[in-house]
Amino acid sequence: MTELKDAHPFTDTRLDVVPLAGYIGAEISGVDLRGPLEASVVEQIRSALHRHKVVFFRDQQIGHAEQVAFARLFGKVTPAHPHEDNPPEGFPEIFPIDSRRYEASLGRKRTSYDNSWHTDVTALVNPPAASILRAHILPPYGGDTTWTNLVAAYENLPKDLRNFVDQLDIKHQFNARAAEGSQRDRKVREANLVAWHPAVRVHPVTGERALFVSPGFTRGAREIRGFSPSQSERILALLWEEATRTEYTVRFRWAPGSVAFWDNRATAHLAISDAGHLDHDRVLYRVTLEGDVPKGVDGRESELVSGQPFYGS
Ligand code: SIN
Repeated sequence: MTELKDAHPFTDTRLDVVPLAGYIGAEISGVDLRGPLEASVVEQIRSALHRHKVVFFRDQQIGHAEQVAFARLFGKVTPAHPHEDNPPEGFPEIFPIDSRRYEASLGRKRTSYDNSWHTDVTALVNPPAASILRAHILPPYGGDTTWTNLVAAYENLPKDLRNFVDQLDIKHQFNARAAEGSQRDRKVREANLVAWHPAVRVHPVTGERALFVSPGFTRGAREIRGFSPSQSERILALLWEEATRTEYTVRFRWAPGSVAFWDNRATAHLAISDAGHLDHDRVLYRVTLEGDVPKGVDGRESELVSGQPFYGS
């Protein structure tokens, strides 16, 4: 069980944090996530997360219980997912990303639940603050995940474009991603999650501004407040392109026991769909930390359109 250990000034562990790409991502070594973890180690991980946006750990021998306990060191842990109704027994916080499940429900191999760029569950009015994903079963090759730094994407826009985007609000909605007419499809549609979010959100800890455009959750509605559908579509296409430029990304090659911890308020990610045809399973487990209601540059808050806020404990 991961717990906090009292820090002693002479026993403080220094973690190795090695950046992996020019704008995003670092690998952390020298820590066993089973714990107990010194308070200073937790602070080093938190600070590396805020600086590098996604951090990776290798060769961790943790199961569901240790993953949830580790997550609790950083905030309240939410239930698995607003639409997850079959988490692993005894672990309501664990969201399985399991190709075997997708094959059973969709009738074809699929290595992740979503193969588009997205920030986790931004259809919620308070999307998760962070996610922690642990790899369990992997194809022999392929099935990597890529993250992008949305702060860099915002900061590198021309000033006039930044000023324009600062004012926009974009509609985010949950897409069923299940066979049309299936039980899951019906359930997701009945409890549809929809929210308006500022296109630029200010990070509550770092104060940084991030381009908050989550393609997977904004592609369905294609709606920017005050703009026509075709205007919205063209502006969104520009922003999606900027948010996912290759230079802002890092690509991670998973191995069993790898753990990725990302700041969902400053990144989007993409599960690369290059392994479905390999006929090999891919199983990972995710937990998410409760998030705040995003705020735009002028302090305006996101608005709930449909669904409920998503709280953890
Ligand atoms: C996720 O979107 O949280 C999962 C990413 C993956 O399957 O690699």
